[in-house]
Amino acid sequence: CGGDGGDGAGGGTDDGKITLGFSQVGAESGWRTANTKSIQDSAKQAGIDLKFSDAQQKQENQIKAIRSFIQQKVDIIAFSPVVESGWDTVLKEAKDAGIPVILTDRAVDSTDTTLYKTFIGSDFVEEGKKAGDWLVNQYTTTTDPVNIVELQGTTGSAPANDRKKGFGDVIATDPKFKIIASQTGEFTRAKGKEVMEAFLKANPDIDVLYAHNDDMGLGAIEAIEGAGKKPGTDIKIITVDAVHDGMQALADGKINFIVECSPLLGPQLMDLVQKVHAGETVEPRVITKETTFTQEQAKAVLPERQY
Ligand code: AHR
Repeated sequence: CGGDGGDGAGGGTDDGKITLGFSQVGAESGWRTANTKSIQDSAKQAGIDLKFSDAQQKQENQIKAIRSFIQQKVDIIAFSPVVESGWDTVLKEAKDAGIPVILTDRAVDSTDTTLYKTFIGSDFVEEGKKAGDWLVNQYTTTTDPVNIVELQGTTGSAPANDRKKGFGDVIATDPKFKIIASQTGEFTRAKGKEVMEAFLKANPDIDVLYAHNDDMGLGAIEAIEGAGKKPGTDIKIITVDAVHDGMQALADGKINFIVECSPLLGPQLMDLVQKVHAGETVEPRVITKETTFTQEQAKAVLPERQY
């Protein structure tokens, strides 16, 4: 790599460095901020020249960024697709230009898996299942209905689709669990608050909130407190991510359970970038290792959390 035109690689520089074009989803959540930092820090550490682009949660911006990376003849393109569908054309353009693509964090629904080299990120269906398992275990001794409201992530995104599915499959095993309202909160605190306010107005009897990320859960906590109820007690709250503010709310008793989703994908991503660039074969799917946290566990680990 490193050629400035002739060999079609190197992003126009000739310093021998790998040039990586990365299209990020946006800055919608604490998770995303930690993920961006992890990618930027680890690129620097690995001596990779990173061209970073923020799509502000819009697919059209990501498509533009990818086309611009192709034009700049970067060595590798990596991106975290804001939604699952609609990528085939631009991925084909990258493939035709001979630029390998790596998916990080979120999947695409393309059936042609030769359009990308590998996909590194969490198993979101599994995360939803862990949330569902915890809930089922909390209510083993009652047959009364359990009224659940759900704050979904960005519509059409892999984590929203999969976390809904994993959770839904587990709670479907017992008809007492009822999702009485489910709407997108776009993975943001502001929208999570707004939608929870509407849920509270329309439904006097909410037992449980399942939020697809911490930020929406944190926004919802404000709405619950605003309605004169006690989050974590009057309404049990389950979220996904385990970022610092979420873990603090869990330790404070305002959230009841968090399923971890690690944003620290940078080091593994850079490793894959180097391998793919060197022409080595890589696993088609790299799944991140993750855990779950109760309130007690949050108290214990909070002082050492990196993000
Ligand atoms: O794709 C990962 C999800 O995106 C995180 O769980 C959420 O916080 C972020 O916005």
